[in-house]
Amino acid sequence: MRTEQALIKENTLIAKDTWKMVLETTLAGEAECGQFVQVQVPDFYLRRPVSICRVIAEDRIVLVYKVVGEGTKRMSEMKTGESVDLFGPLGHGFPVEERNVMVIGGGVGVPPLLETASRYIAKGHQVTAVLGFNDAGGMILKDEFEALGCQTYIATMDGSYGTKGTVIDAINANDLKETFVLSCGPLPMLKAVSEKYTDGFVSLEARMACGMGACMGCVVKDQEGGSLRVCADGPVFAIGKVVL
Ligand SMILES: Cc1cc2nc3c(=O)[nH]c(=O)nc-3n(C[C@H](O)[C@H](O)[C@H](O)COP(=O)(O)OP(=O)(O)OC[C@H]3O[C@@H](n4cnc5c(N)ncnc54)[C@H](O)[C@@H]3O)c2cc1C
Ligand code: FES
Repeated sequence: MRTEQALIKENTLIAKDTWKMVLETTLAGEAECGQFVQVQVPDFYLRRPVSICRVIAEDRIVLVYKVVGEGTKRMSEMKTGESVDLFGPLGHGFPVEERNVMVIGGGVGVPPLLETASRYIAKGHQVTAVLGFNDAGGMILKDEFEALGCQTYIATMDGSYGTKGTVIDAINANDLKETFVLSCGPLPMLKAVSEKYTDGFVSLEARMACGMGACMGCVVKDQEGGSLRVCADGPVFAIGKVVL
């Protein structure tokens, strides 16, 4: 992990409040799927953690982020040709195992699953993608998962696209049988995934300061009452490891 000035090659709106930023950076060559970078947004002291959505070349990564507050709003105003300071790649990502997998994503938890899916497909494994959103307007990356060759299912809470309801509703409605799962998304979704599956991994979010295991600002509890740092011990943990 290190810091580097990355060059913004693209920063565009791709769905409701959701942006895609393509960055030229040599950190790309070191990135594992499910890892994240800390973005130094101009005028803000704390860096913003954002997952690596895709590594598209040895020197190019894609971030997909939602504008939720002042930092991400400022990020969305940055222009092609500007530089942004990145720290990363950070954390332990998803394992790439020798078997088929189902990736289950919700909202802005979907992005890191795209690079993860591509690495399973590159090894010749089948990937089922189940992606959940509030509504069709917030749907992201469906075409990208399909272009990789994933069998892709969508759930929307308002029923405006795909199965009405949660990702679990989409899994049940389509009678999906894969039992090894990798998941990233809001906490209620990760809880539901952890109740249904025992074999797999979930990626957690936490408020972060240092992003490298030093400040203990992102601690969660494991089942034995011990402390785990989301930034350094995670963000990806085996299902059942962390108290959700
Ligand atoms: C490992 C990891 C990966 C992430 N990947 C993505 C991604 O790929 N795409 C995406 O849209 N979002 C992602 N997030 C969430 C993203 O970091 C927050 O949405 C963002 O930091 C909000 O910043 P803000 O200044 O706009 O919001 P504000 O609410 O103004 O932020 C105030 C402070 O709280 C922190 N904060 C606010 N919300 C979150 C949150 N959900 N998680 C962690 N810190 C938060 C901010 O970093 C900042 O320090 C990820 C979070 C983590 C921990
Ligand atoms: S953010 Fe500092 S230890 Fe995780």
